[in-house]
Amino acid sequence: MRGFFVCISQLDFVPERTESPNQMKLISIILFSITLFSVILFGMNKGPILTLDLNAADAPDPDRKAPFEYGRELGIDEIVDRQDEVAEVVRTIRDGGKLFLIGPRRYGKSSILKTAVDHLNQKSAIILRIDAEGYPSIDLIVGAIIALAAQQLTGEAKKAGSLIAQFFSRIRPELEYNPLENTWSARLGVDIKRHDHTHLLVEALNSFERLAQAQPERRPVGLIIDEFQKIIELGGQTAEGQIRAAIQTHKRAGYVFAGSKTHMLTAMTTDAARPFYRLGGVRFIGPVPRDDFHRFIKERFKASGFTAKDEAITLLMDLAHDVPYNIQMLAHGCWASLRNSGTRRATLTPEIVAHTLRRLVLQQDPIYTMLWNRLTSIQQRTLIAVIRLQGRNLQSARGMAIVGKAPATIRKSIHAMMDTSLLRDEQTPNSTVVVFEDPFFEKWIEFVILPNLPF
Ligand SMILES: Nc1ncnc2c1ncn2[C@@H]1O[C@H](COP(=O)(O)OP(=O)(O)O)[C@@H](O)[C@H]1O
Ligand SMILES: [Mg+2]
Repeated sequence: MRGFFVCISQLDFVPERTESPNQMKLISIILFSITLFSVILFGMNKGPILTLDLNAADAPDPDRKAPFEYGRELGIDEIVDRQDEVAEVVRTIRDGGKLFLIGPRRYGKSSILKTAVDHLNQKSAIILRIDAEGYPSIDLIVGAIIALAAQQLTGEAKKAGSLIAQFFSRIRPELEYNPLENTWSARLGVDIKRHDHTHLLVEALNSFERLAQAQPERRPVGLIIDEFQKIIELGGQTAEGQIRAAIQTHKRAGYVFAGSKTHMLTAMTTDAARPFYRLGGVRFIGPVPRDDFHRFIKERFKASGFTAKDEAITLLMDLAHDVPYNIQMLAHGCWASLRNSGTRRATLTPEIVAHTLRRLVLQQDPIYTMLWNRLTSIQQRTLIAVIRLQGRNLQSARGMAIVGKAPATIRKSIHAMMDTSLLRDEQTPNSTVVVFEDPFFEKWIEFVILPNLPF
């Protein structure tokens, strides 16, 4: 029906473009026929597909869905590039392998995982995906694994419940089914105060392998733990050895462990003395290739009736330091700026990008102020040194002059801020530099703090 009204409403534009009443009539007939045809062909709700091109495509539509998304994990048809990474996750699970996916926060790890799960689910897979950062203790992670396993067993709820109780019998799960939401929750029947939590996790993983082995051969079965390092933080270094000992014997279930604390995870997986060394593949997630992201941004602006200049897109990606989340956030802000300008066929220029960045960063002022005020004075000065020295030679004489401390203190301060995900290391072709995890926090310091400093 919408198609019909959209077409009819276009007659408003017709007089500007035609001179004779006959032409007017002819166009009305054509438009009406196309509408009728589109309704027949695509159904009542899909009419606008055909009418959009006829409409004044340069007119910004204030109700149109924003073309840039940030802050949620994306899935099939939403992410730029990453085909290789997605394929590797799919392959690992299908083949019962093990994979570590390591990359900075907001680079798109969870989106890669979600996209891979979307693909696997087309083959009626059993995939449990857990974000370990969402749980304050390991026993709750174990409960989540059991509940998700029950969720994935299709069929009658009672049967799924008793199957899970059998597979996980050693930790005596108490399962509860919520028929309204079709969800499960699980508590552990064992006394969690008397058990080593990592041991409970290992029991759950062994049970999961048994469940996997009971599935038809072609059914992919996997466990994906996002922000995996949280488990090691909770369970201590001995957890690494215990988990490895268990899962290295598992052949049927596939495991993918993803994490943002690149420093910690790299050491965990590439140091020959550590248990996870060579347990499975290790893939580092870098930025999305620039050309692909550039094309994506350009096309999305174009589809909204706007033009994005190449130099504006380049600046946008520079300011976002190539972090996909920040690119999408800034692109969204720019799109909103153009839409709110009310100008038809508005063009995105570098000036608009710079202006929008300032607006966005200052909008976050309360959050960034709080973040800044929680830091020690040494940490604040270290961040200033990171900006002034572009993350290089922070323990040099200049670094010491800015921070006012000896190199050992500066190093400690940097590591403390890496642990809290404020800073991270970034490899460049010739060296390692220290960068902000959130490039917009760096901009906030530049806009708000630096202008008031005497040095
Ligand atoms: N491949 C991609 N293409 C487009 N945008 C992406 C891509 N990867 C990440 N993003 C953007 O980054 C945001 C955060 O992605 P997410 O997968 O949650 O990252 P991570 O798990 O690494 O922190 C997404 O909401 C999206 O805006
Ligand atoms: Mg994530």
